[in-house]
Amino acid sequence: MKKLLLGSLVFFAVSMAACMGADGDTSRSVSGQTAVDGSDTTSTGGSRYLVIYASRSGNTERVARQIRTMLGCDILEIEPAAPYNDNYDAMLARAREELASIRQGNYPQAGTVETDFDRYDMVFIGYPIWYGSMATPMQGFLHEYASKLAGKRIALFATSGSSGISTSVGEAERLCPDADVLGATLLLTSATLPHMSSRVGEWLERLGIDRDGNGSEESAQLKVRITAGGRSVTATMEDNTAGRDFMSRLPMEVTLSDYNNAEKIFYPAPVLSVEGVERGCAPIPGDIAIYAPWGNVAVFYKSWSHSNDLIKIGHIDGDGIGVLSVEGSVGVKFEKL
Ligand SMILES: Cc1cc2nc3c(=O)[nH]c(=O)nc-3n(C[C@H](O)[C@H](O)[C@H](O)COP(=O)(O)O)c2cc1C
Repeated sequence: MKKLLLGSLVFFAVSMAACMGADGDTSRSVSGQTAVDGSDTTSTGGSRYLVIYASRSGNTERVARQIRTMLGCDILEIEPAAPYNDNYDAMLARAREELASIRQGNYPQAGTVETDFDRYDMVFIGYPIWYGSMATPMQGFLHEYASKLAGKRIALFATSGSSGISTSVGEAERLCPDADVLGATLLLTSATLPHMSSRVGEWLERLGIDRDGNGSEESAQLKVRITAGGRSVTATMEDNTAGRDFMSRLPMEVTLSDYNNAEKIFYPAPVLSVEGVERGCAPIPGDIAIYAPWGNVAVFYKSWSHSNDLIKIGHIDGDGIGVLSVEGSVGVKFEKL
């Protein structure tokens, strides 16, 4: 039954890739040996980006190329040292065997990669989800090349039939302990892949990179990673005195207490500067605000009525507020993205 379901998912994936057609981009890769492709090594805006991807049936490759097109950066395909069998069932069996071996600490060998990773600050890493995990060729690559990625910012993206990305984020963090694996990830499933272009654009914005590929240092400086209960989400702070004062306190670990069954609050000491900041806000889920009379910071997980005493200082990106939708108090770490 599982095999049947998987078969139809992958059939869908192959069809999607075929429908979308070629975009004229070329990346060079031969089985077991991979070279960087890209006329432009250095991206504009001071950041240097590299997109690395593994893809069997083309979906992840489409996303990788979309990122590459938007950023005008280099792209690198990872292929397994030994090519996969054309027989689909044999390929699935090998994938299962490789995942079982990885659980024992034995990673598949990555093909030779000819690139100078020192040329890049930020690396986008994309892969399909296989049996809930990061596809094995990418796990093999990260296992072998983790030291080359040390100190770099890593932005993860994945495609799947419907499974989530969170298991593979944990795998990336374990495989690259010395890299900064960013909390803002991108997952495109069979249902959302048709919206790839807009989803990639929104994701790059969340990462603080504008759609023309310019690393927007200003917006990047207002990006926060919020970690609670082992999950990380991102937030964007307002570009005002209070938002910048908040950023200047990071990293910060606090316990958020529940208030009104609508918000999680803590008291920064000293209180945040609100000089010249516009007052008045009708908070919606995800809004981060200061309640001026008390000086507490409140992260709203429910909407609340307008108050002139509330000062909005930021918002949790996307539907990330779910990470704080827990009963009672919650320990939270805020850090710069
Ligand atoms: C070996 C294998 C295992 C897969 N396991 C899952 C899975 O656990 N969950 C899921 O939603 N999709 C699963 N899929 C579907 C792929 O994740 C999906 O089709 C993906 O978009 C393929 O990306 P690609 O075209 O870049 O190879 C699996 C596909 C393969 C080949």
